[in-house]
Amino acid sequence: MNVRSLPRVVAAMLAAVLLAAAPARAADTVSRPPSPAASAALLELGRHLFFESRLSGDGSRSCASCHAPARGFSEGVALSRGYNHSGHFRNAPGLLGLRLKERLAWDGRYRIDELPKLVEEMLTSPITMNGNPGIIAERVRQVPQLLQLWQRAFGERTPPSFDGVARAIAAWSAAHDGGDTAVDAALRGDASALSPRAAEGMRLFTGKAGCSGCHSGPAFSDGLAHRLGVPESPQILRDPERTVALLAHHASHGSADPMSERSDTGVHALTRRASDRGRFFTPGLRGVAQTAPYMHNGTLPDLAAVVAFYDRGGGRGSETKPLGLSASEREALVAFLEALTPRTALAVAPPPAFDYATQAGAGR
Ligand code: HEC
Ligand code: HEC
Repeated sequence: MNVRSLPRVVAAMLAAVLLAAAPARAADTVSRPPSPAASAALLELGRHLFFESRLSGDGSRSCASCHAPARGFSEGVALSRGYNHSGHFRNAPGLLGLRLKERLAWDGRYRIDELPKLVEEMLTSPITMNGNPGIIAERVRQVPQLLQLWQRAFGERTPPSFDGVARAIAAWSAAHDGGDTAVDAALRGDASALSPRAAEGMRLFTGKAGCSGCHSGPAFSDGLAHRLGVPESPQILRDPERTVALLAHHASHGSADPMSERSDTGVHALTRRASDRGRFFTPGLRGVAQTAPYMHNGTLPDLAAVVAFYDRGGGRGSETKPLGLSASEREALVAFLEALTPRTALAVAPPPAFDYATQAGAGR
């Protein structure tokens, strides 16, 4: 082996470590398997509906209100503003690389094949869009251009339905992983794709810092729940609407005494197992530099704060240990996380808003 082939060998070794949790997918390409073909008509309908605020109860917000394309489909605030600013108790995650993940939502309550069900929850939950299934289908039917897009996707004889709306939005949401990143190129063996600092960060990520123990596979997530001891967000208890939303979440998942539960206990709220208290699912990291602030409650403002948090050994009860990183090693890890940004900016402009058939000027 000559010296020039060394970077290639190192990259292959790193790829093997990163992909350890996803051997079946690794067969396609080293880092990013191709997306499954969804019909172009279904995707086009989904694109329009993702930006369609009339799907929400009072027509005030669409998926894009909380999942903004320019921010890797995240909201850019610590805790989601919620429907009509009623206040959510969690951070709205970015959606790049969605289809590469195994479990969705911070508590992993949906598997990836249940994405349309998750979208139905987003459409109807009183803290996200507060939409009504019957009204949603009717509103789509009453906008001539949307009806036309619907018929192209589902056929002329199928009237608009709530579950079809959710399926189209799910297909479009899962269609873009943002595209190639410098890290993907490095994993394919392109030794010049990463800056020396980011390349050092990649070695730390899979080595000394142990990040790839959980952030593995093409989405950089093991699809499992872990306890890091991320501190509670003081904003939840300060804001009565957010507290109510959290208590309602506990109650709706069968807590016997939701009033006694004033913190976001993660997976525990679903399973009620003591060992699940404070456990959240490992998020994917594609496009992570665009989705600040971080963690399930947005309590860490930027990537430097995230790396410093891990360096301290996480928060109370964390399953991770202090890392003993130098300042330059912490910077290298941040440079690596930044290199997970798609190399071409995502060009997703909101489609035009069409009028209802009943409005003047419609149907021209
Ligand atoms: C009011 C803000 C808001 C709106 C509107 C909203 N979401 Fe969300 N979304 C959130 C929050 C908050 C979460 C995290 C929920 C949790 O973990 O319990 C989330 C989670 C998700 C996830 C899980 C992502 C992952 O990787 O785990 C997907 C997918 C998603 N939303 C898609 C959508 C779609 C599609 C729409 C439109 C139908 C939508 N959202 C509308 C706030 C919003
Ligand atoms: C023990 C498993 C585990 C290890 C090891 C780990 N992570 Fe994480 N990571 C998680 C979990 C779980 C979360 C979400 C925690 C939460 O919100 O409470 C997370 C969240 C993050 C986030 C925030 C993502 C977002 O969208 O908010 C970043 C960035 C991140 N990790 C990077 C790293 C880096 C860098 C390392 C190595 C220094 C690392 N992780 C090590 C499990 C892990």
